[in-house]
Formats: sequence, C-alpha cells, structure tokens
Amino acid sequence: MTRRYRALVVVFMLVALVLVSLALALSYDSPCGPPASLPDDTTRMKAIVSRCYGSPDVLTLEEIAKPTAADNEVLVKVHAAAVNPLDWHYMRGIPYIMRMESGLGTPKDTRVGVDFAGTVEAVGRNVTRFKPGDEVFGGKSGALAEYVTVREDRALVRKPSNLTFEQAASVPVAAITALQGLRDKGRIQPGQKVLINGASGGVGTFAVQIAKSFGADVTGVCSTRNVELVRSIGADHVIDYTQEDFTKGEQRYDLIVDNVGSHSFSEYRRVLKPKGTFVIVGGPTGDPWIGPLAQPIKAGMLSPFVSQEFVMFLAELNQEDLEVISGLMRAGKVTPVIDRRYKLSEAPAAIRYLEEGRARGKIVVSLE
Ligand SMILES: NC(=O)c1ccc[n+]([C@@H]2O[C@H](COP(=O)([O-])OP(=O)(O)OC[C@H]3O[C@@H](n4cnc5c(N)ncnc54)[C@H](OP(=O)(O)O)[C@@H]3O)[C@@H](O)[C@H]2O)c1
Repeated sequence: MTRRYRALVVVFMLVALVLVSLALALSYDSPCGPPASLPDDTTRMKAIVSRCYGSPDVLTLEEIAKPTAADNEVLVKVHAAAVNPLDWHYMRGIPYIMRMESGLGTPKDTRVGVDFAGTVEAVGRNVTRFKPGDEVFGGKSGALAEYVTVREDRALVRKPSNLTFEQAASVPVAAITALQGLRDKGRIQPGQKVLINGASGGVGTFAVQIAKSFGADVTGVCSTRNVELVRSIGADHVIDYTQEDFTKGEQRYDLIVDNVGSHSFSEYRRVLKPKGTFVIVGGPTGDPWIGPLAQPIKAGMLSPFVSQEFVMFLAELNQEDLEVISGLMRAGKVTPVIDRRYKLSEAPAAIRYLEEGRARGKIVVSLE
C-alpha cells in the first residue's frame, strides 16, 4: 500500500466517522427533563412546554414564570392561539437537520406555538404603537401560553373589530405564507389562472381567498368532503382530487401554489404554462432526515433546465404583511376558516389532529 493510498483511506475513515457521529447526534432523542423549579414568589402563568423531542405526548401544561415586557416590548394576554405544521416539526425535531438550529437531543426553546390573538396588558416604556387594552394578534414563539411578549416592531398588529380572537389567532403563519407565496414568489396578476393544490387546509383556505383578492381566476384542489367549503370561500373552479387528476386535464395555469406535493414535477410541468411559476409551500413529510426539503432540492435541480420557474420559500412573519392581511379581512375579502377548537390543556390533541393532515381550515386553541 503506497503512502498516498494509506493517507486517502485515513481521510475517508475520518470523514465517515464525522458523518456517522453527526447523524447519531442529530437523531438522538434525550429523555425529558423535569420541570424547572421556580422560587415561591414567582408570578406564574400556564403554558404548553416540550422539554424533549417526540409525539404530542411530550407536550405538558405547566406553570412557568409570567414574562414582563422589556422597554420595546408589549405584554399580551392571549385569548386564542392556533397550531401549524411547523409546531409539530419543532415538537418532533423532524427533519433532523433542523436540530442544528433547534437543539441537539432536546429543544433549546421549550415553548410551543406561534400564532396568537389577545389583549395588550402592559407595554414597555419605549413602546408608542400599542397601549394597554388594545386587541391584537400576531406571531411569536411560545404562543401556546397565557401570556407572550412581543417587540412592538415585530409581527404584531391590531385585531380588526369584525374578527373574533379565535379567527384572528388563526391568521399569522398560514395567511402570511399564502400572501408571500402568491404575491412575492408567484408574482400573481389579475386575470391569471391560478391553481391551489391543497385548497382546504390552513394555508389553502387563505390562498384561495387572497388569490381572488388579486383578481385571479382560481382553481382549488381538495377532496370530495371539502368541495363545498372551497367553493364557498370563492374558488371559481374546484377539482375533487379523488375523482379527477388535474395534471391530466387540458387547463394550463400561470401559477400553481402547492401545499401538498402530491404529484411529480413532470406532472406539474404538464399543466403549467411555458412561462408559468410553481411555488412549493409544503410537501410530503417524507423521511426524517430531510423530509419536506426533498421537493425543493429536486426543484432546484430541475429549474435551470426548464422554461417554467420552480421556487420554494419559507414564510417570514412581519408587521407589514400582517397589516395587508388585516386590511383584506376588514374589507371582508378574507375570512378565516376554523375547523376545530381545543382548550389549552388539550393542545396535544390539537397537534395530534393537525398531524393527520386532514384539517379543514385552521385548528384553534382557546384560552378563554
Ligand atoms: N413554506 C412555508 O413557509 C410554509 C408555511 C406554512 C406551512 N407550510 C407547509 O405547507 C403545507 C400545508 O400547510 P397547512 O397548514 O395548510 O397544512 P394542513 O392545514 O394540515 O393541510 C391539510 C389539508 O391538506 C389537504 N390535502 C391532503 N392531501 C391532499 C391532496 N392529495 N390533494 C389536495 N389536498 C390535500 C387536506 O384536504 P383533504 O382532507 O380533503 O385531503 C387538508 O385540508 C405543510 O406541508 C406545511 O408544513 C410551509
């Protein structure tokens, strides 16, 4: 064996060792630790906590310290929250690759939930946009709790008076995803033919309504039991995927927003106009390593070789876009669709139901 060959073998073994160690570290689930003990004089609140990765069984309702607003923050008493697929991705730590950010072994952030609506209870001394008593909604990690604190310039806006707290809580992640997918990635235009695959779910019910507000001709794809729902929120055409495969039809679309990943890219391409855009919002859960990232990776490899545009994105919660959606709701152009309601103590059941992938609109957790 030459010296160079031996060196190559050593390098190969070292790389393999590093990769195996990384894989073990990423996929290892540490046991759940005990709740943190609080000094007796701590002001407390109830919150859903996850101190280890796993099924909804790892979620517990606990008493933790009630937060206080920093100088640039608003303290909100939460009346309602909503759950999103991202909550169960963080709860399970899947795909494993995300644990590089969310924590190895156990989650770094034990708080759960993002979407909330409630009443401002207190504001920091530098806050000018909000005052105690304001009814608000927004997004902040840890929303499945009695209180959240949010920076006044982050994803927080006043609740339109024509919305209940439950309706407002269902908006942030799903509606912002729909808006950014259609407007920023899809560059939607009036009169365009737009297809929403997965029109009856959390993102889909907002996407149908927002696409209509842009003046598009909207086709929603859903199963038989949701056909009337999707029609009732404004879709011009509804395709029941149990009866008809839209990728085999004659209609060609300017824009497809895909919440499901139920077809191959060559099937989608067939019904996309030559200069059409395909926006990947979600896809099959897939394997636990890269999971929903498989679709965007394939799309990235396909894009340079075809005339159509295939794009994926991660929605970004921000105040400006929440205001845009608030405006649409005030004008009656967008109305949240709520499927089921749960109590805070039932948050594990809410997430278990969401994980089944059969939600009709949004799943809400009420704290009142
Ligand atoms: N990129 C981002 O930033 C971002 C943000 C939010 C969400 N997401 C992802 O987007 C996806 C959708 O999120 P969501 O909150 O809307 O989920 P969801 O509410 O759980 O979606 C459930 C809906 O999917 C429908 N569905 C299931 N299989 C279908 C099929 N083969 N064809 C058409 N519809 C089908 C179901 O309708 P039926 O029961 O009638 O089948 C149900 O109404 C998830 O993968 C999520 O992780 C991504």
